[in-house]
Amino acid sequence: HRILCVVGARPNFMKMAPIMAALSALGPRVEPKLVHTGQHYDVAMNHQYFQALGIPDPDINLEVGSGSHAQQTAEVMRRFEPALDEVAPAAVLVVGDVNSTIACALVAAKKGVPVIHVEAGLRSFDRAMPEEINRVLTDQLSDLLFTTEESGRANLLKEGIADERIHFVGNVMIDTLRLNLPRAVPAARIAADAGRTGFADNGYAVLTLHRPSNVDDAAMLQRLLETAAQISLRTPVIFPLHPRTRATIERFGLAHLLDRPQMLLPPQGYLEMLGLMQDAKVVLTDSGGIQEETTALGTPCITLRHNTERPITVDEGTNTIAGNEPARILAAYEEVMTGGGKAGRVPHFWDGRAAERIAAIVNDWLPRD
Ligand code: UD1
Repeated sequence: HRILCVVGARPNFMKMAPIMAALSALGPRVEPKLVHTGQHYDVAMNHQYFQALGIPDPDINLEVGSGSHAQQTAEVMRRFEPALDEVAPAAVLVVGDVNSTIACALVAAKKGVPVIHVEAGLRSFDRAMPEEINRVLTDQLSDLLFTTEESGRANLLKEGIADERIHFVGNVMIDTLRLNLPRAVPAARIAADAGRTGFADNGYAVLTLHRPSNVDDAAMLQRLLETAAQISLRTPVIFPLHPRTRATIERFGLAHLLDRPQMLLPPQGYLEMLGLMQDAKVVLTDSGGIQEETTALGTPCITLRHNTERPITVDEGTNTIAGNEPARILAAYEEVMTGGGKAGRVPHFWDGRAAERIAAIVNDWLPRD
């Protein structure tokens, strides 16, 4: 039985690595194939990830590139259809919530090919987020839904998904984190390589920003960068720049807000990002995945959004939702600096074995030979 696995954007790669490995470990009965849609194409954003994570080279590259949501989604669909016909898999497996996820799920569902969704059921209840739309629709199209936290099941049941399709298996991204933690690149080395030896030696904060709601609005982006500059006067800030964010900083003429004592970096590889998060005093982010990774690492996280689709990182983990008002962000930062941040605990099943559970369930679910 061939399983056609889809990756498109950076956060997909680390989720797919353990799934491909666990499916391969089932033996000759199951044959995973990898398609890369090319939603992300920069070397810095993807080839490095494939190499660092030991993901096999994709069997199929669709090379769709960037575009508006409609263009990008449509282009993935158009190019994925012949690939699906050629491979004729028993199922299509998608992860996460990017445009490639919904595009391939929709093509498969309409062709009667079963869809498996890993990281199902997460909801921010904010339809202004393109990912929320991708999540809701992908789950509606899926035959087998794997969740990372139990909130996912409750959300899916409310949307009419049958209980027996839903399996709580834990978090494949944390499988990858645990496997790779021993190889994490220390922050001191990253600073030295960037020509800023000693920058991180007395503690530092990490900042990541890329959500359109934060970076595509000039006033909002300016406020966030000013807040980061204020924090950097007390705690040096390491700021790996997503290409979307780099472009809007330039377009809005905000580069002057990024002078020292901040350290700007190009998009980092997976092992570099792990090292940066592991040793940080605090991480400020609008990413979804980083909220989970910091919870797994026990590093305090301040989320620069008004909501999260990953509530367990707040209920059990180290995450604080601070929104994007400077006063609230600075208050959350103060709390971490004076109180050390939330202690947090690692959620159930975030134990490095989620992909094994997925593979076992997929194996049982496939038709008997
Ligand atoms: C996408 C995902 C988002 C995810 C993020 C992680 C959707 C709707 N969004 O957002 O959920 O958190 O990836 O990075 O799928 N660009 C490059 N090089 C690349 C790719 C993109 O320079 O390899 C630039 C282009 O200018 C492009 C912009 O980044 O227009 C945005 O890329 P896109 O894939 O549309 O969305 P992301 O913001 O990366």
